[in-house]
Amino acid sequence: MKVLVADKFEKAGLEGLAALGCEVINRAGVGTDKLGAALTETHPAVLVVRSTKVPAGVLEQAEGVKLIIRAGAGVDNIDVGAATARGIRVCNCPGMNAVAVAELTMGLLLCCDRRLPDQTAELRAGRWNKKEYGKTGAGGAKGLKGMTLGVIGVGAIGQEVIKRATAFGMRVVAWSRSITPQHVGALNAEFGGTDTPALLALAARADAISVHLPLTDTTKKLFNKTFFDAMKPGAYFINTSRGGVVDEAALRDAIAAKGLRAGLDVFEFQPAEAEAGFESPTAKCAGVYGTHHSGASTEQAQGAVAEETVRIVKVFKETGRFENCVNA
Ligand code: MLT
Repeated sequence: MKVLVADKFEKAGLEGLAALGCEVINRAGVGTDKLGAALTETHPAVLVVRSTKVPAGVLEQAEGVKLIIRAGAGVDNIDVGAATARGIRVCNCPGMNAVAVAELTMGLLLCCDRRLPDQTAELRAGRWNKKEYGKTGAGGAKGLKGMTLGVIGVGAIGQEVIKRATAFGMRVVAWSRSITPQHVGALNAEFGGTDTPALLALAARADAISVHLPLTDTTKKLFNKTFFDAMKPGAYFINTSRGGVVDEAALRDAIAAKGLRAGLDVFEFQPAEAEAGFESPTAKCAGVYGTHHSGASTEQAQGAVAEETVRIVKVFKETGRFENCVNA
């Protein structure tokens, strides 16, 4: 069975696929523009992608591909509808990188509160400034203990964030379209509701918000002017999910108008390539602490994703079954 790997993939995963008897074609970094040609040239049964986009045009050249595996959780870089129409199954690796994303979430919260990147930048510029970073009150660090954190989305990542935030002494209120008070109680969080009025009520009472939702038609720009207007002045907004869930212009306005701080691992128009120019007014905005969609990029998480990818291929090869299929 031929497996085409289109993005950087752990060595253990490549070896695991080879150990299954697969012919592994490693084309990490091929990019969307050349992916169709690579598929036509190599005729794989399985395509593995991480960040590379797989639009309908590429799928037209995917003759013989039976399975696309997203080496991660979100499948929004793949045109799942077009894959379904061509009889191609799309499978993902849910939960495998949840701990890594939750860890970055806590880091971004701490950046918002302690302004760690600003402190480092001043030290690197040869300046000692305890006057600024040691102050309390307006603009100073508040401390996470005792803060109310609204966790929006309670899948694998949201649940890992709840555990870590609770350990920091934060009061966690969880919101999701599909949770019940019982479910949330078992996670040691408070029930924050399931509808839009409840979401806005949570925005109004939270000291910090952390978003863990997939990008879908219903979550697109869910965090908009109305949401940011509802947030408390000086509150923190963290997004490690997808850039498309945020109206970035509205966020920038709220940062300027009411001193919100934001920790963002994802941006609406971020590059799909691993390295590229990126001129983003949001990423450049003072008050935004940004990272490079690297939430899932730890050795622990990528090892777990690679292992799950190999398992999905193994089950498909041996039984024809599609594990974690999102378009069954
Ligand atoms: C995911 O959807 O799991 C993350 O965005 C993963 C990644 O960066 O690969």
